Amino acid sequence: MKPQTEAALTRVKDKIAREGHAAILFVCLGNICRSPAAEEVMRQELKHRGLDSIITLDSGGMYAGHRGELPDQRMRIHARRRGYELTHRSRPVKYSDFEDFDLIIGMDDSNISSLRGFARTEEEDAKIVRMTDFSRAYSHFDHVPDPYYEGAEGFEIVLDLLEDACRSLADRLAD
Ligand code: 4NP
Repeated sequence: MKPQTEAALTRVKDKIAREGHAAILFVCLGNICRSPAAEEVMRQELKHRGLDSIITLDSGGMYAGHRGELPDQRMRIHARRRGYELTHRSRPVKYSDFEDFDLIIGMDDSNISSLRGFARTEEEDAKIVRMTDFSRAYSHFDHVPDPYYEGAEGFEIVLDLLEDACRSLADRLAD
């Protein structure tokens, strides 16, 4: 794993050890496909490890145009087939997220660079990592591709990537 991501993870684990809780935010563009799916996949991984009451999860988008909407119906259908019910309502990322969350996970280059533009201090910037930094089986992917203009396959690959990366992140938080 990249040293910056390793360091960000260590700070989250230190905070859990010190304060008994931490918060993780998943971020994509519209907050209707990738990040609400990541949030739910991660919630199940944390539940399996008994960490769901310790780690708070949420998701947000860099684009506010879908504010208040449920996740994209295609994303909900593909997620439901794997046992994930997506009920999040889209909301844009806000400055206070950088105070309220300990780890901010972007899905692609565009999300990461927009998030870096938002961060006001080095400490806030250091919270930003990339979902695929945690990939194991899918380590040949350096981002979670935007499925919005893709077919069914695009949504399946998103879920494959998210399950792989969230499992590995949850394992790291549990060990
Ligand atoms: P997401 O997908 O970033 O994974 O939620 C998208 C959703 C909406 C748009 C683009 C990507 N859009 O252009 O409206």
